[in-house]
Amino acid sequence: MADTPTSSHTASANSGLIVLLSGPNLNLLGDREPAIYGTETLDDHVAAARVAAEALGWTLEHVQSNHEGELIEAVHAARTRATAIIVNAGALTHTSWSLHDALAAFDGVVVELHLSNPAAREPFRHTSVIAPVADGCIAGFGALGYPLAVEAVVRVVAAQS
Ligand code: DQA
Repeated sequence: MADTPTSSHTASANSGLIVLLSGPNLNLLGDREPAIYGTETLDDHVAAARVAAEALGWTLEHVQSNHEGELIEAVHAARTRATAIIVNAGALTHTSWSLHDALAAFDGVVVELHLSNPAAREPFRHTSVIAPVADGCIAGFGALGYPLAVEAVVRVVAAQS
């Protein structure tokens, strides 16, 4: 499921396109384990991220999929268009070397994002195969993480230019 951007930008130092990727089961947010993931829906998080991006002159597109290959294709599509990728890969965070390799082939900024703090949860969540190909990670701040991830992208890109 992909939604459409409200405007388009050419990538540059001060503005650009952020592709926000949401992995498996994140479409159930709001309903799914609210004690861990909160009561906001994925649409709420995307809206908050988009507001943060547009306030800074950036554009944000969102892709959610429960299928690993669709997420990989979204990363491929981002290679020629996007300045940055923010990725909450859900449980693929802990398993998907294919997503790792796709992100390794993306030249822009990569921010790994989680609502919960996987390091404080079950042992299988302690390993992220995304982490080695991410510039950094925002985890454990719930809904606040989405605008924080956008701010991280914008500040990192500004610091690079
Ligand atoms: C998550 C953490 C993952 O371990 C889990 O599989 C998810 C959500 C998070 O946002 O906290 O689906 O990425």
